[in-house]
Amino acid sequence: MTNLQSDHLQKRIFSGIQPTGNLHLGNYLGAIKNWVNLQNDIYSIFSIVDLHAITVPQEPSKLKSSTHEVAAAIIASGIDTDKSILFNQSSVKEHAELAWIFNCVCRIGWLNRMTQFKEKAGKNRENATVGLYGYPVLMAADILLYKSTHVPVGDDQKQHIELARDIASSFNNMFTSDEEDDFFDLPEPQIIGEATRVMSLRDGTKKMSKSDASDASRINLTDTAEEISNKIKKAKTDPHPLPDNIEELKERPEAHNLMSIYSSLSDQTLEKALIEFSGKGFSYFKPRLIDLAIETLSPISREMRSLLKYRNEIDKILKNGEQKAKEIAEPVLKDVKNLVGFVN
Ligand code: AMP
Ligand code: TRP
Repeated sequence: MTNLQSDHLQKRIFSGIQPTGNLHLGNYLGAIKNWVNLQNDIYSIFSIVDLHAITVPQEPSKLKSSTHEVAAAIIASGIDTDKSILFNQSSVKEHAELAWIFNCVCRIGWLNRMTQFKEKAGKNRENATVGLYGYPVLMAADILLYKSTHVPVGDDQKQHIELARDIASSFNNMFTSDEEDDFFDLPEPQIIGEATRVMSLRDGTKKMSKSDASDASRINLTDTAEEISNKIKKAKTDPHPLPDNIEELKERPEAHNLMSIYSSLSDQTLEKALIEFSGKGFSYFKPRLIDLAIETLSPISREMRSLLKYRNEIDKILKNGEQKAKEIAEPVLKDVKNLVGFVN
């Protein structure tokens, strides 16, 4: 088997998270928890995507501290940096270089379909940065720079991974002569578990998000046990007991959200969790959810706090990750440049 063929058979994970504000339960259940489970089976690369963060204005000193906090949260959740790579995106310049080449592959029409841009840019689209518009191209570069095959993310990123597949396939068509020589494999989204889209605790139709003005809408990984308990106690519900089937549950956004969180935290299917609670009211369910959330998140926030006392150590881990990331990224970018026809 040639090197190229064996390269194609190798599975590799890439995923990223933005260093903007507090990480919350949606980030944990939709992404980080799955990363921790997958890292043992598939070689994994995780990045704190600061180049993505600046697509909307960031305060420089806050960006630095958020980068440390996100690194600490990822490590505290169980990412083993001896096994997997953890680095911050801007330290590997190849991301930006490959993104430029992909800017010249991706069509404006493809970006115009991106729903997250429409949501984030809001009504004043003319005022959004070019970076926010081109963000999915950078994301494709992140993934393909490592020839990644699997991308574990929350549901909101699915469309961006489809775009990465379109870019990969277009690049292959433009620069390789037949299918067997395809340079990039098409990356697969991995949207795993029962909480792929965790919703706001105040409104079950809105995604739980770092940027929601109401802190009560989300559970932060840094929340104390008391805060977690209060937020779940106050979480919006409806007056009915929990149903015995998923169809009915899905018609009740807040009940569906809280049950999905419970089943994901307890590593069981929604069907199984429903058996435990059908016919019961929220006054029975909520205390159990509170206990489970505290039991899962308290050790993470404790570990995060202790890691953050030694920011130099976090810097060392990121530096080490940067080196390992570059070892993979540099030769891939060199090959890409060759295929494009650059003299280098
Ligand atoms: P971000 O906070 O936008 O950098 O997202 C980092 C990761 O968390 C991505 O994989 C997202 O899909 C995931 N994520 C963010 N918010 C949620 C949510 N409310 N539910 C599930 N996954 C989420
Ligand atoms: N866009 C992702 C988000 O906001 C973060 C991200 C950047 C990412 N690059 C990535 C996720 C590559 C997976 C793969 O959540």
